[in-house]
Amino acid sequence: MERAFVMVKPDGMQRKLAGEIILRLERKGLNLQMAKVLHISPDLAQKHYVEHREKPFFSELIAYITSSPVLAMTWSGEDANALIRQLVGHRNPLQAMPGTIRGDYAHETTENLVHASDSATAEEREIQLFFGGD
Ligand code: CDP
Ligand code: MG
Repeated sequence: MERAFVMVKPDGMQRKLAGEIILRLERKGLNLQMAKVLHISPDLAQKHYVEHREKPFFSELIAYITSSPVLAMTWSGEDANALIRQLVGHRNPLQAMPGTIRGDYAHETTENLVHASDSATAEEREIQLFFGGD
């Protein structure tokens, strides 16, 4: 069993796709553990996306992720990180396969509905950031 960190991003919340995203993960057999709605602060956003701080899209990404509330969640299941990344789909809308969350609902690279940890190492860091104080 592995844990994964998943977040419905501001556009996903505003488009009322949180339920759809949860449904897809549940139907696959993954288990929802913790969940909370929060408005990400600039400080938390910069820590969460620290790996991208030198990228040209960084300030746009921080503005987007702090723009309105998100749904932060932890999930568990066998190979949860790899499995959820597959269900989420590629960040480039042209490469996101139909049948994936982004492939079915996202049409741009920044506002792409959902974040998912990409490894067990990232999962641990991200869950600590979002749920560590709880
Ligand atoms: O979210 P994912 O792990 O699939 O992609 P990433 O490469 O780790 O990038 C993190 C997030 O930054 C993406 O989900 C997009 O919201 C944003 N991004 C962007 O706005 N422009 C890019 N060229 C690449 C990523
Ligand atoms: Mg990533």
